[in-house]
Amino acid sequence: MSELIAYIAPQNVLPALSDCLLILNSSNSHLNVVQSDENEVVQRHYALQMPVQRLVFPPAHCHWLIASLSHEAQPAVRTLHPHLVVVADGLCSNHADLARSVDIGIASSLSELIEAMLLAHLNRGASLLEAINLCNEQLTGDVSYICHQQEQAQYMFAVCLGRPLFVGLESGLRQICCSSLRLIRQRANQVYAMNSGDVVRFGLGAPARILSNGTEQILPMPAVNKSQSIPHYMLEEIEAQPETLAILVQKYAAGFSLPLALRGKLAGIRAVTLLACGSSYHAALVASYWFETLAGLPVQVGLSSEYTDRDCQPDAYDLVIAISQSGETADTIAALQHSQIKGAPRTVALTNSPGSTLTTLVDHILLTHSGAEQSVSATKSLTAQLLMLYVLAFSLGEARGKLTKEQVVAAQQEMLALPTAVAETLQLNKDIRRWAGLLHRKKNLFVIGRNTHYPVAMEGAFKLREVAYLHAVAFPSGELKHGPITLVNEELPVIVCLPWNLQAQKMLDDLKAVRANRGEIFILSNGNIASVEGTSVVRMPSGLTHLSPIIYTVALQMLAYYCAVLSGNDIDAPRNLAKTKTAALA
Ligand code: G6P
Repeated sequence: MSELIAYIAPQNVLPALSDCLLILNSSNSHLNVVQSDENEVVQRHYALQMPVQRLVFPPAHCHWLIASLSHEAQPAVRTLHPHLVVVADGLCSNHADLARSVDIGIASSLSELIEAMLLAHLNRGASLLEAINLCNEQLTGDVSYICHQQEQAQYMFAVCLGRPLFVGLESGLRQICCSSLRLIRQRANQVYAMNSGDVVRFGLGAPARILSNGTEQILPMPAVNKSQSIPHYMLEEIEAQPETLAILVQKYAAGFSLPLALRGKLAGIRAVTLLACGSSYHAALVASYWFETLAGLPVQVGLSSEYTDRDCQPDAYDLVIAISQSGETADTIAALQHSQIKGAPRTVALTNSPGSTLTTLVDHILLTHSGAEQSVSATKSLTAQLLMLYVLAFSLGEARGKLTKEQVVAAQQEMLALPTAVAETLQLNKDIRRWAGLLHRKKNLFVIGRNTHYPVAMEGAFKLREVAYLHAVAFPSGELKHGPITLVNEELPVIVCLPWNLQAQKMLDDLKAVRANRGEIFILSNGNIASVEGTSVVRMPSGLTHLSPIIYTVALQMLAYYCAVLSGNDIDAPRNLAKTKTAALA
């Protein structure tokens, strides 16, 4: 995936771009810039050194530019249309059809495709805005683009169709639009996070959202709190979750926008197999409860690295879903291929990486639309996986007649409440930092939960191991009495995910044994539980039922993060781990 950065200002914006590269310090090593150069539009390519050095650009009066930063070199020179410049990122699922309709090669880049589509509409007499709206109606997938037309030199247009984009005001009348929350927070004084479907005009004057009927709305642009600079990608990605989830909620809560071909198959599904590893495996485990409860389907969850040695027998009505943030994890690719060899009839890739290997092997692709995830630890991509699996589960429930219309509406309503609940959970950071102060030096920790919150506990323990290097182990709380309780004493704290639901009383009973053995208890709960000696409670937001695992996951992400910070660990690149690199898009 690429990072997009666009600048427009009365003064030369190249030095600002150079500053951006230092802030991003991204491992993407190819920078393509389309820029104004005196009265010309030029395109330049730079191969970046690692670690990123300050780039010295040739002297120019460049008052607008659109840059993309990616793993792979873009075609060195593409023929630029002198009047219209488009830089896009994402995956368009009907790319080939659209390329044929505008008579360009199907190997064309997404930027070239959108440029050709806009030009086709402009040539038929449409204004740029009309062309953008028409083009947006045609594009399906997960796309964002920024465009500039010479006739309106003081403005640029940003379009968000799934992939996150932010618009910000900098000092000196500079306006920026980019895909990185870290960058915008550091550079801009005021920021607007674009919603999917937004078309925003920025440049001279106040940035405005342009509605499809041409009406302009000046953007609400809250000031950035500069004292809250983001020291690590992991924190940036944790904090981005209200926005990344809001993009998915918008896409899926209002209308039914699972890919049509997949939707057509849902009624005939009789079983689900989920394949994944690491954090994605925990998402699969949470979702297994949803597929049972909401869709009434039997579910198998296969750990990718184990699955290839199993003699699985998918039947003709099975839906196999391979889940992988990167779409490149070798174990998950092998597990999917194993299921296909064994006859899996319908396969889905659920990934954050359009164009990744996994997406080339399956019948259907579901994207998590979370933007590039730089930290090794999966955070925003994981909660997005959970949300997409929830959408799939209730869609299956609806298609199979297991859920009534009212229940489907209720499921969608719950999605609408999610981004706010996640934002409220992030507000608990002070309490969670206090816990981290108490926990980060412990030798061993237990994390427990029941039902959907047992895999949440697994994910929490996984994160505590992964970034905080703590020996954390997860158990279903009902299992404590079957062995683990022998280890509990004043040296072994127990972290508890305790949503106030049907399992809550059982959990409170399980905890009696922990206190009886002097184990210190740290409870995350929306219930009315008091902190007393030996028991510390952080009050979680209320109002979610099925989606509650997502906010408990976020709370545990923060706990692992702050424990890692206090231990002085390398947060974004934990020892012995590396993030699977995502194949760059064409
Ligand atoms: C590695 C990382 C984990 C990640 C797992 C699966 O093991 O350390 O954080 O969850 O890979 O990655 P995927 O890209 O397949 O979701």
